[in-house]
This record gives sequence, C-alpha cells and structure tokens, in this order.
Amino acid sequence: MDVVRVELGASAYDVVISEGLFAGGSWRALLEGLAADGGPPFFVSDEHVWRLYGDLFDGFGSAVVAPGEEHKTLADLSALFDAFASSRLSRGGLVVAFGGGVVGDMAGFAAACWMRGVRFCQIPTTLLAMVDSSVGGKTAVDIPAGKNLVGAFHQPSLVLCDPAFLATLPEREIRSGMAEVVKTGAIASEALFGQVAASAAAAAAASVSASLIAACIRFKAGVVAEDEREGGLRKILNFGHTFGHAIEVKYGFSRYTHGEAVAAGMRLAAALGERLGVTEKGTAARLGEVLDACGLKARESAEGLLPYMRGDKKSSADGVDLVLLKRIGEPAVTPLSFAALEDALDGGLAPA
Ligand code: NAD
Ligand code: GLY
Repeated sequence: MDVVRVELGASAYDVVISEGLFAGGSWRALLEGLAADGGPPFFVSDEHVWRLYGDLFDGFGSAVVAPGEEHKTLADLSALFDAFASSRLSRGGLVVAFGGGVVGDMAGFAAACWMRGVRFCQIPTTLLAMVDSSVGGKTAVDIPAGKNLVGAFHQPSLVLCDPAFLATLPEREIRSGMAEVVKTGAIASEALFGQVAASAAAAAAASVSASLIAACIRFKAGVVAEDEREGGLRKILNFGHTFGHAIEVKYGFSRYTHGEAVAAGMRLAAALGERLGVTEKGTAARLGEVLDACGLKARESAEGLLPYMRGDKKSSADGVDLVLLKRIGEPAVTPLSFAALEDALDGGLAPA
C-alpha cells in the first residue's frame, strides 16, 4: 500500500493506492469512518462499472448514470440531484464517485453543489482517473458551448485507488490513460520519463504497475498542493491539452478519446517548441517514440486547429499560455499571441 498526502491545509487528503484493496474489506472502514456523522455513503457510478463491480457495494444507496462523455451534462447532473433528494442525502453526507473521469467530474460537481457542498470520495476505475482526474479537485459538466464549462474546484476527502480495476478496462482506454502517464513523465523529470518509457510496451499490452500509477499521483499531488487553483504552476499539467482539446473539438469528440487527442497534441507541442527554439532538438523524437511504444500512434496536422484553440477555455482574447518543454522534465509555460502562433504554425508542423 502506498499513501500520497495532498497537502492542502484544511482540505488536505490521502490518496491510498493499493492493488487488491477492494478484494478485501479494509475499504469499508475507510469509507464508513468518513461517513460516520452523515449516514451511509451514497455511490455514483456508470452502467459499465456498476454492472462489473456494483455487487461490492450492495446495500448502499446508489445512482447509476449512462456511460460516456455525452452523459456529462446538466440533465444528468439534475438526475443525480433527484437521486440525492430521494435518498435524503444530508449536509453531513458522503458522495462516492466510483468510475472513470466522467463519473468523477460529474459526481464531484454534484457534491460541490448539493446543500452548498458535501464531502466526496473518489474511487477511480480507469487509468486516466487514477493518475489524473481523481486527484486535484477539478469537477465539472459539459454544456453545448464547450467541455467542462460549468464546474467548481471541490477537493475529495479521500481517494481510494485500486489498480486491480484495470483488469476489465478495454485496451483502448488503457492506452488513453497512458497519454496522461506519458505527459506526467515528460513534465516531471528524466527519471519518471525513463520509468514510463520502460513500462510502455507492457502498457500497450494493457498492464500498468501500481508503482508507476503512484509515481504519477505523487507528482500531481505536489503540483496541486503548490497551486490548487491553477494560478501558475498547475498550468504545466496542460501539456498537450491545448492542441489536444482543439483536435477533440475538430472531430466533434468522436474520432479520438481524450487521451489519444492529448497524445497527438503533445507531439504538436513538442514540434512547435523545437521550431520556436524553446525545446531542445531531439525531444520531440524521444516523446514520439514513447507514445508509439504505448500504442498511441495518431498524428494530427496543426492545420485548421487555430480557430479551435481560440475557443479553448484557457485562451484569452489575445492568445494562450501554451505549455512547451525546454527538455524532458522541464516544462515552460509560454505565453503566445494568436498572431505569433499563426506565424509559427505557418507551413504546417511535422509531428514526430
Ligand atoms: P470515462 O469515465 O468515460 O471511462 C471510459 C470508459 O471506460 C467508460 O465507458 C466507462 O464506463 C468504462 N470503464 C470505466 N472503468 C472501467 C473498468 N474498470 N472496467 C471496464 N470499463 C470501465 O473516461 P475517462 O477517460 O476515465 O475520463 C475522461 C473524463 O475525465 C473527461 O470527461 C475529462 O474531461 C475528464 N478529466 C478530468 C480531469 C480532472 O482533473 N478533473 C483530468 C483529466 C480528464
Ligand atoms: N488535469 C489537469 C489538472 O488537473 O489540472
């Protein structure tokens, strides 16, 4: 068992990483301890996850939503509030998000809103949710105008991460989560990037070690502890995401998963960094090799992405803080005007 503390003063919490945690009964004391004053924990999950694992939580109240990003909406959120009301979830209650990033983001936002905020716990079941979305307190739903536009910072009180859940995760979703693992290695250090590179082939075959997951969580926890609200340092977690979000929007969220789009976005950010002279030559090739080894092979042209980058919620009217790398392990948040970006992208980019 590995425990990572997210040091956020009065909002500090533990991320418990333990392979097989839910095969035994020790999770029960952890959850019931948290829920002691407010009645039993109330579970939010999606149909895929609940069909596979719902029996574990027999006897607890639950709401099960339809799976997928298309169900991270205000209508689905409203149905959750109805379920909270029917089960008389009180101010002292505990919401448990049991699923991937979609369930975590939506249940977390529901907990942030219910009675002006109740506590919640994350039990991530996808690789992406384990290494990224379950930690850090970003919660949201989508609206037609854009992804994650309605949300709140609301930190969980506890995260229980059992990598054994990955045994049933489709391979494509494992690869998608690996994009965030590669991202973490690329912005964290040569050492972590090396660990990711060494694990890439196994990950392509859908096997990811608890120690690699814990290393990613430890890095993210440190960043969040320093900059909870993304005033500065936390922006580095968006490496590959500005291009990635533009790619997702360009294809109407249908061609790529979030992770696949972020992987293609990291290739573009590395190529752009080299062109601008910010990124050490050869970095894009190294990053590209690791993404290839993880089975994340998609390459996208930068052509036509600029209008979508302008629409990104992290862009201002004039430009965007693009996360580039100086080298592996050294991210550089680089403010670029849209005019400068247009010049830099002129003639296209050839992602490695
Ligand atoms: P997801 O939640 O849609 O899960 C992917 C699919 O896997 C779903 O069909 C789900 O039902 C299924 N699934 C989940 N666990 C399973 C398991 N153990 N076995 C079998 N099937 C399983 O997708 P995701 O990639 O986990 O999350 C993507 C979401 O996360 C996006 O909405 C994104 O915006 C959000 N996100 C949030 C943050 C944050 O900091 N809050 C960070 C990154 C991404
Ligand atoms: N996934 C980016 C963040 O949590 O800030």
